[in-house]
Amino acid sequence: MDLKQEIIRELMAHDILVEPAVVDYIIEKGGKSYLPKFIEKYKNIGIVSLSALGDEEEVEFSWVKEVHIWDFKVLVEEEGLTIRGGKADDFRNLFVDRYHRLARILRNRHELRGYVDISRMQRGEVKLIGMVDNVKFTSRGSLLFTLEDPTGRVDCYSPQQEFLLNDEVIGVIGTYNENTNRVYVREIIRPGIPLSKRNRRIKEDISAVIISDIHVGSKMFLEERWKKFLRWLRKEAKGVRYLLIAGDLVDGIGIYPNQEEELEILDIYEQYEKLAAYLEEVPEDIKIIMIPGNHDIVRNTEPQPSLPQDIRKMFKGNIEFLPNPAVFILHGYKFLMYHGASLNDLVELIPRMSYERIGEIMKHMLEMRHLSPVYGGKVSIAPLSRDFLTIDVAPDVFITGHVHAFTYENYKNVHIINASCWQAQTKYQKMMNFNPEPGKVAVLNMKEDRIRVLSF
Ligand SMILES: [Fe+2]
Repeated sequence: MDLKQEIIRELMAHDILVEPAVVDYIIEKGGKSYLPKFIEKYKNIGIVSLSALGDEEEVEFSWVKEVHIWDFKVLVEEEGLTIRGGKADDFRNLFVDRYHRLARILRNRHELRGYVDISRMQRGEVKLIGMVDNVKFTSRGSLLFTLEDPTGRVDCYSPQQEFLLNDEVIGVIGTYNENTNRVYVREIIRPGIPLSKRNRRIKEDISAVIISDIHVGSKMFLEERWKKFLRWLRKEAKGVRYLLIAGDLVDGIGIYPNQEEELEILDIYEQYEKLAAYLEEVPEDIKIIMIPGNHDIVRNTEPQPSLPQDIRKMFKGNIEFLPNPAVFILHGYKFLMYHGASLNDLVELIPRMSYERIGEIMKHMLEMRHLSPVYGGKVSIAPLSRDFLTIDVAPDVFITGHVHAFTYENYKNVHIINASCWQAQTKYQKMMNFNPEPGKVAVLNMKEDRIRVLSF
């Protein structure tokens, strides 16, 4: 292993991800002898970009300094989002990458200390880390599945009635029986997230406003309530420096059958022009950070790239166009923002879930460390060599939209927000007996580390 790899591995063992340039920086500073100091300094940050590195003399990070307006760092770049192939091999690479990303987290779980490769199992107690395949339930509700790692596969049997999804990466503790060639599972360990006790509060009174699903162009777009919200941003909101929008910026065209009957603006470019006009009313000192959703103009396959240049140029002002999902840091708070198309899959696949319990589904995503684990569901997943849908670093704020409900919960000190919409009930939702909860706005105050919910 070369020095760079050794450094990356050591950092990952401490849950720190870095840009390649940061590895060069560490080598410049003395390589492995500098590592402990670096880890000590950045262990609570999770992801470190070159721009986040301070001088040695500087004890505090830039985001705790008093004077600056924005402190925005994007961590997942567009690079690598282009689909180059769709062959079996490309999907294989995606799943291998997922395995390695999640296995890295599982290897750090103390319960799995002493795990072995599947090919090296011996009779008796075993601990394994692998990807799940062929999940089946017996008539009594016991669980049967295959566990696979890079060295082999083994069938597993669990008498407990628990849920497990295909393509999850898990740890298994159980007993291996050579005669049946099966593992009898005692415990399933998910990668999970640690309970963060980090004090995230900042000195300045700065807030981020979180919304989703504007659906400009729809006849059901709630223009009056939207304008009321914009007025509040302009005239009343105090300390707001960021507006985060979790996708479905416009209603789009041809998204579902007969959508044109429900469209006020029939041209998608005009829909974006209208959105751009609205966003021009947002005060200049508020940075807008937005990602696409399934109604936007980019490909539907996830991860979705950010809006293309011909759309971007319609917008003026302080806007960051990010892909879906996006990971970024504001003033030390790590944000994971995902539109949420997989919620439609997970609500059916995870027992006892419903559209009233989106927060529970989001907790499961965090525990699985994956936004859309199941391949072959409603969400189409791009065959990329990197799995952008794994949750590499536990966020401080986890945002989804898509289902037009509203949820706020705090789970292990993560602010979980399923942001609401600006569209009244559509015919389709009426048919599905779904009542949206529009006009809700979550405001994260980063000085108090607290969420306030407003209604418009
Ligand atoms: Fe939507």
